[in-house]
Amino acid sequence: MTVAEELIDSYLHDPVHSGYHILVAEADSTTVGYVCYGPTPLTEGTWDVYWLVVAQERQGQGIGTALMKSAEKEMGKAKGRLVIIETSSAPGYEKARRFYINHGYEIVARIADFYAPGDDKLILRKRLRRNRRQLSSKAHPVSSAKN
Ligand SMILES: CC(C)(COP(=O)(O)OP(=O)(O)OC[C@H]1O[C@@H](n2cnc3c(N)ncnc32)[C@H](O)[C@@H]1OP(=O)(O)O)[C@@H](O)C(=O)NCCC(=O)NCCS
Repeated sequence: MTVAEELIDSYLHDPVHSGYHILVAEADSTTVGYVCYGPTPLTEGTWDVYWLVVAQERQGQGIGTALMKSAEKEMGKAKGRLVIIETSSAPGYEKARRFYINHGYEIVARIADFYAPGDDKLILRKRLRRNRRQLSSKAHPVSSAKN
């Protein structure tokens, strides 16, 4: 929780240069979830999703999906190619793991005993599909240059 608050403070202090982007879900003027993500330094088009959280009493209503889709849309607009998420193999994260896999993420690496003995770090990855406009400008670079 302290780490999450530090990310939010850093973003609010300097949204442009903090390296973090935050989207918030609200219901009845109350924050019910948020996602924090940002470009991975020293990469070309790779982004990290650092936190995705929905209030416990609001889970299972599509809020996490809406946050994830909005974040992916924004990353795509910023020429994101790959999205990376790190999570734990512990039983308490089973729902989160299933959520990510249902949203097209695949487990590409595992560091055994990373968080604690028997609690591995899982690295999940998703390739973002490029939208039609990006694809057509790549496919017809000459004609678009003429126009
Ligand atoms: C993982 C997490 C962000 C998902 O958020 P969420 O709002 O519950 O996600 P959604 O409601 O969009 O989807 C969750 C499930 O509910 C289902 N669902 C979606 N809309 C629904 C609705 N209107 N009614 C009922 N179920 C619904 C989805 O099919 C999905 O099923 P799945 O678990 O089989 O994939 C949330 O569980 C969470 O905050 N967990 C604790 C924090 C955490 O572990 N974060 C990840 C750290 S790495």
